Amino acid sequence: MEPTLEQVINWVREAALMAQQMRGEGLQVRHKSKADLVTEADTAIEAFMINKIHESFPGHSVNAEETGQHDGDQEHEWFIDPIDGTLNYAHGLPLYSISVAYAHRGEVKLGVIANPPMQEYFTAEAGKGSWLNGKPIGVSETRELIDSMLITGFRYHLLDTPRSNINNFIRLSHEVQTVRRLGSAALDLAYVACGRVEGFWEIALNPWDVAAGILLIREAGGIVSTLHGEGHLLKGSVDILAANPVIFPKLQTILREERAKTF
Ligand code: IPD
Ligand code: CA
Ligand code: CA
Repeated sequence: MEPTLEQVINWVREAALMAQQMRGEGLQVRHKSKADLVTEADTAIEAFMINKIHESFPGHSVNAEETGQHDGDQEHEWFIDPIDGTLNYAHGLPLYSISVAYAHRGEVKLGVIANPPMQEYFTAEAGKGSWLNGKPIGVSETRELIDSMLITGFRYHLLDTPRSNINNFIRLSHEVQTVRRLGSAALDLAYVACGRVEGFWEIALNPWDVAAGILLIREAGGIVSTLHGEGHLLKGSVDILAANPVIFPKLQTILREERAKTF
């Protein structure tokens, strides 16, 4: 038996309520490292979601941020980021999300990204489309870089390395209208899918950050791939580029030029 989009949306709705309630109740926060926090809400939502999945689909495998890999039938795999943008969440910034995706034989079939403070639910089903609160969405139709807004992010542990992403940020800041850093990769991808921004790229993300967003963008008519066409989007460390189909190749060319300079 396979899950339905409705089922996943219902679970995420409950999780969104948990996130908002816990935010108001004096959160316990623990440091994984300097810029990497885990709150009670991360742990509680992840446990809630895994429980829901295993109640309905006991054999499925799960890849979740806080508890890692839960082995099961690899043909059915779930990706969970209980709170994406934990730093924002812990500081009371409303830019955070809950991201859940279901993949069958390595292809993402269902994706849900919720932003509880705005009550926005971005959802997608393979072959059927992407929606924001039930209304169909599509990527932007902007054709020129100079008219484009992009989003990116920076991993703290890469800041002093050639993979810091700072050069890409500076170069693209000259080429486009502006580049933002919002702090929730899943939400960034959802914003590309609904056309609020033209593109997003980031280095060294994880599969749970991107799985739902990948489907949202593809079903919304956008393009997503690894940054330089190497590696995987759903395994290991993920370098990702996503954009509308006209802007995508332009970004790819510039990011390739920047990479060539570092070798
Ligand atoms: C983080 C967010 C952020 C990105 C980081 C991620 P987390 O996820 O997606 O936007 O820049 O790389 O680790 O830790 O808040 O789930
Ligand atoms: Ca994350
Ligand atoms: Ca997280």
